Amino acid sequence: MRRVLFFGLFACGWSSVTTSTQGLYDLITRRLPSASDDFKFILNDVTASNSSTPPNDAFTISTVNGSIAIEGSSLSALATGLRRYFTDVAHVDVYWFVGSRLKEAPSPAPRPASTIHGESIVPWRYFFNTVTFSYTTPFWSWADWELELDWLALHGVNLPLAWVGFEKILLDVFRDMKLVDSEILPFFSGPAFQSWNRFGNIQRSWSGELPLQWIENQSVLQKQILSRMLELGMTPILPAFTGFVPRTISTLYPNASVVNGSQWENFPLEYTNTTFLEPSDSLFSDLQNRVIKKQIDHYGNITKFYTLDQYNENDPFSGDLDYLRNATRGTWKSLKDANPAAVWVMQGWLFYSNSDFWTNERIEAYLSGVESDEDMLVLDLFSESQPQWQRTNSYYGKPWVWNELHNYGGNMGLYGQIDNLTISPIEAMQTSSTMVGMGLTPEGQEGNEIVYALLLDQAWQKVPINTQAYFHDWVTVRYSGNNTTPTCFNTNLLANAVPKAIFELAPNTTGLTNRTGHHPTQLNYDPQVVVDAWKDFYAAAKFENRLWKNAAFAHDFVDITRQVFANAFLGNYEDFISAWNVTALKSQSYKRTNDLRRHASKMILSLSALDAVLSTLPQFSLVPWITSARSLAANNSQIADFYEYNARNQITLWGPNGEIIDYASKSWGGLVADYYLPRWNVFLTYVVDHDPSQYNASAAREAVVAVEQDNDSNRVNHTSSQS
Ligand SMILES: *[C@@H]1O[C@H](CO)[C@@H](O)[C@H](O)[C@H]1NC(C)=O
Ligand SMILES: *[C@@H]1O[C@H](CO)[C@@H](O)[C@H](O)[C@H]1NC(C)=O
Ligand SMILES: *[C@@H]1O[C@H](CO)[C@@H](O)[C@H](O)[C@H]1NC(C)=O
Ligand SMILES: *[C@@H]1O[C@H](CO)[C@@H](O)[C@H](O)[C@H]1NC(C)=O
Ligand SMILES: *[C@@H]1O[C@H](CO)[C@@H](O)[C@H](O)[C@H]1NC(C)=O
Ligand SMILES: *[C@@H]1O[C@H](CO)[C@@H](O)[C@H](O)[C@H]1NC(C)=O
Ligand SMILES: *[C@@H]1O[C@H](CO)[C@@H](O)[C@H](O)[C@H]1NC(C)=O
Ligand SMILES: *[C@@H]1O[C@H](CO)[C@@H](O)[C@H](O)[C@H]1NC(C)=O
Ligand SMILES: *[C@@H]1O[C@H](CO)[C@@H](O)[C@H](O)[C@H]1NC(C)=O
Ligand SMILES: *[C@@H]1O[C@H](CO)[C@@H](O)[C@H](O)[C@H]1NC(C)=O
Ligand SMILES: *[C@@H]1O[C@H](CO)[C@@H](O)[C@H](O)[C@H]1NC(C)=O
Ligand SMILES: *[C@@H]1O[C@H](CO)[C@@H](O)[C@H](O)[C@H]1NC(C)=O
Repeated sequence: MRRVLFFGLFACGWSSVTTSTQGLYDLITRRLPSASDDFKFILNDVTASNSSTPPNDAFTISTVNGSIAIEGSSLSALATGLRRYFTDVAHVDVYWFVGSRLKEAPSPAPRPASTIHGESIVPWRYFFNTVTFSYTTPFWSWADWELELDWLALHGVNLPLAWVGFEKILLDVFRDMKLVDSEILPFFSGPAFQSWNRFGNIQRSWSGELPLQWIENQSVLQKQILSRMLELGMTPILPAFTGFVPRTISTLYPNASVVNGSQWENFPLEYTNTTFLEPSDSLFSDLQNRVIKKQIDHYGNITKFYTLDQYNENDPFSGDLDYLRNATRGTWKSLKDANPAAVWVMQGWLFYSNSDFWTNERIEAYLSGVESDEDMLVLDLFSESQPQWQRTNSYYGKPWVWNELHNYGGNMGLYGQIDNLTISPIEAMQTSSTMVGMGLTPEGQEGNEIVYALLLDQAWQKVPINTQAYFHDWVTVRYSGNNTTPTCFNTNLLANAVPKAIFELAPNTTGLTNRTGHHPTQLNYDPQVVVDAWKDFYAAAKFENRLWKNAAFAHDFVDITRQVFANAFLGNYEDFISAWNVTALKSQSYKRTNDLRRHASKMILSLSALDAVLSTLPQFSLVPWITSARSLAANNSQIADFYEYNARNQITLWGPNGEIIDYASKSWGGLVADYYLPRWNVFLTYVVDHDPSQYNASAAREAVVAVEQDNDSNRVNHTSSQS
């Protein structure tokens, strides 16, 4: 018998309105139907608090009257308790890329032998970066979202960002303001680039316009996402009006106080310098009011949290302290007018990315425009590597969240700074009384899942997690009882994010290796470690044949193989360059050319072999990225071409002319063989044929550019426009 417990809606400041446990029973029915009668969820009534942040969450798991009873302080506590049951008692879990393995649980579902307790150390567990909605989710179906939201709930997330379909709200508001579609639609960016349009970094779309069909489709999807979030105990953070508007606003509203934002990443001006309506203008409040009201009309009055970033990689028109304070004050007032309960959620990235502009004095002035501290929540975005909370004195009193970013552009490479995910947040908690949450802000979801799970689990442990034991247990669950433990996850201070394989970069004779920073290529470990791990994996699977059928094991085996190839390519490249860069003696030139050809063909063959390995699993292949994009076009081939162009352009040129080329590169089957390989092939051929004295970098680059352009234009008609 399923038991659904309802409590009255409690009217406290922080709670989302859903108090039915039905969403949790539904989760079990989705993922482990055979056990749908085995669980009993008991939601404790929690005394309403006046505080703007909820109390910490707690759960207990026990056996009551033969049922697996999970009792907790909130739906999120219950969901977290459910995962604890799955991992610690049933030894199963749910994963990115691999999916849910909950069905592997023993049947009947084992009862806990003793009571298990859990208590969060922070009230908020946050998830998503604004750009995750472009790097990972833009082409997701509802089924993809369902899995994601189950993952979030089970991992204790209770404060996720919810950006999907925002263009529908903006479109309708702009229409209400008498702008016409021919003014509004060209303002939006393509499906793979909406995040940066939402940030005001870019405007417009290259190679086609965002179709209305997309806007309507995503808006429907957002309704599904939001109601599921609520069912699973998550409070969504909705977008708000930022101030970025179509240029033509000034025609209709000549007195509107607008300024041009800054040029982003050298994009041509038509695509950047986005028009910004100043928050001091009454038109700004009017638009804010409409945006918030329209969302309440569409989705209900479901949240008080609004994500709102105006100066993310986009510098304010003026650095004057009064100007900055006025900008925030105007924005804050507009939010409070529209929803008196509003809390402004802001990514703190700008304070790091443009620390030259954002002096402490300016940060303090900017934040002080929000006159009540509780009306703002700052996301310290990259806390494991570049925390800003110390230098800003905990954001001058604003509540803030400690976040792990970990990767840029969904790049792929084994990597993790373990101590910085366990020790650092605990130290931060002890130091800063206004730290109210822990969360994940990955640019894309990628393969180092364990280090993301680690941080969310740390949010339920008062002391730094013992990572040795954690890794052992995590891997044992993942491989259903076998713990082949490969670890390249060492505290790794020389890199600060997921590294990139050099074969994903435009070929060059210099500058590719030993990069540090956001897309490091420097290897901070002995590559033999990964080779040994690969051998262990292979031996384990030979010994224990069922491992081949374990989807998580297969995933990791391909991932480790990918890393072995990436590291080997690096070595081969270095050999090639040093063989090339010796003054050729005439008598040796034949041998020299032969040596170079041998090194080059090793590199090319390895890319080809890697492609074959990657192509064995869909999650390492380009195909789903493209087909999911196309499938959203509902059989309109012209629109499908545009979506495909977006999908391809993001992971290759990233911009109409390669403005941030290779930023979001991927080691994917199909991309390695059809893009990186030909790029290296023309380059290596050129280099073999030209010794250092004859080498001309522009000529080499030209040959490579031809391949890059070909990849983009080959498949899509650049000049076609959407209707
Ligand atoms: C909540 O606010 C009310 C009225 O402002 C006050 O009477 C009450 O004591 C407060 N409760 C708590 C738990 O602070
Ligand atoms: C367990 O069963 C007893 C006897 O039927 C009942 O009184 C009690 O409420 C049950 N406990 C729960 C938590 O359902
Ligand atoms: C675009 O932004 C840059 C700053 O990055 C600025 O120098 C330039 O004046 C802006 N151009 C326009 C047309 O606003
Ligand atoms: C800031 O706002 C105040 C009050 O509205 C106004 O008097 C002042 O001129 C503004 N300062 C700037 C630099 O915009
Ligand atoms: C939405 O809910 C908040 C309380 O969370 C309330 O202050 C506000 O008036 C509500 N807005 C509408 C339009 O109902
Ligand atoms: C990361 O951890 C190392 C080792 O504990 C420490 O020295 C370093 O300061 C940490 N970095 C950050 C940004 O917390
Ligand atoms: C894998 O797990 C099974 C069952 O738990 C066990 O019998 C076997 O010895 C393990 N194999 C390895 C290689 O650890
Ligand atoms: C080639 O060797 C010279 C001299 O050692 C060095 O300065 C140069 O950087 C090398 N070039 C490349 C591409 O490795
Ligand atoms: C990269 O750095 C390592 C260690 O500092 C060094 O051994 C290696 O020669 C460097 N490689 C290149 C190509 O500079
Ligand atoms: C979006 O469009 C696709 C393709 O037509 C369709 O399968 C899907 O159901 C639509 N999604 C929503 C939420 O309408
Ligand atoms: C290699 O990099 C240098 C420096 O960024 C650049 O000038 C050159 O054109 C590049 N060469 C090729 C072949 O891309
Ligand atoms: C691209 O599309 C345009 C406009 O639809 C058309 O005129 C042109 O012939 C097409 N080019 C190719 C190569 O298909």
